[in-house]
Amino acid sequence: MQRRELIEKINKLKKEKNAIILAHTYQNVEIDEVADFSGDSLYLSQQAAKTDADVIVFAGVYFMAETAKILSPKKTVLLPNLNAGCAMADKINVEQLRNFKAQHPDIPVVCYVNSTAAVKAESDICCTSANAVNVVKSLNKKEVLFVPDQHLGSYVESQLDGVKVITYSGFCPVHHEINPSDIVEKKTLYPEAKVMVHPECPDEVVKMADYTGSTTGIIKTVKESSDKEFIIVTEKGVVERLERDCPDKKFVLINEKAVCETMKLIHLEDILNTLENNVYEINIDEEISNKAINAINKMVMINA
Ligand code: 13P
Ligand code: SF4
Repeated sequence: MQRRELIEKINKLKKEKNAIILAHTYQNVEIDEVADFSGDSLYLSQQAAKTDADVIVFAGVYFMAETAKILSPKKTVLLPNLNAGCAMADKINVEQLRNFKAQHPDIPVVCYVNSTAAVKAESDICCTSANAVNVVKSLNKKEVLFVPDQHLGSYVESQLDGVKVITYSGFCPVHHEINPSDIVEKKTLYPEAKVMVHPECPDEVVKMADYTGSTTGIIKTVKESSDKEFIIVTEKGVVERLERDCPDKKFVLINEKAVCETMKLIHLEDILNTLENNVYEINIDEEISNKAINAINKMVMINA
């Protein structure tokens, strides 16, 4: 089927089913042509919480659709491909979290939204990369536990005076593999370029950044900047959107391996299949969902 025809069919079904499509910034860029909202995890979870739609199609990874379901339990939430998981979310399960808590008793747990519903249910508050610093600050504690991302946790600690962030050992393989030498190499080729880094990268990489923030934060900062060249130190989808939106600026992806393969499992054909066949519906155990919503709601109420 031609792309135009696919898009028309998707848009028609969206209307018939009163559905919205949420697309993460790492998604294949073609998905933006049918998406109602495109952005970072925080923005998309805010949209999922306030939509009037009956059906939410989440063009993202599993934990994102799960979060949308927790926020809107009465709505149908569909993930176009069940293999679209997140390697970071898989780094900690409930048992591992309980052990981590037992090693550090009586310290609140901040859980990055890139985690399973069951892990959220055992945490005090959630955060995304956009609001992690404000979330930890809001707790007003000297010590917090941070799961699963060691790098985002240590970035948060670096931004706050007098707060010890005890991190779990998880990471995102896409960002963890990025090295300072990658930046040095790109800086040699583009010495004027500003370095835009996602806080899931290791500390040594974050230290070399001109700007550190979520995917939406990076896109917004680039758009508002008078600079013309940028080294994008996160996933490829951010570069594709910036090239589309800012044709007068030059974007250099940190390296060709910076691709979240599971995000890229979703294509327009999958979105059409989702809407035609109501697949794949996300359902969450009620007890877990009821516990997890506290941690997510506390986060949604805190401004980025
Ligand atoms: P954002 O918080 O910028 O949406 O990033 C989510 C993510 O999965 C990064 O790897
Ligand atoms: Fe998960 Fe990493 Fe993909 Fe983000 S880029 S969704 S953290 S695997």
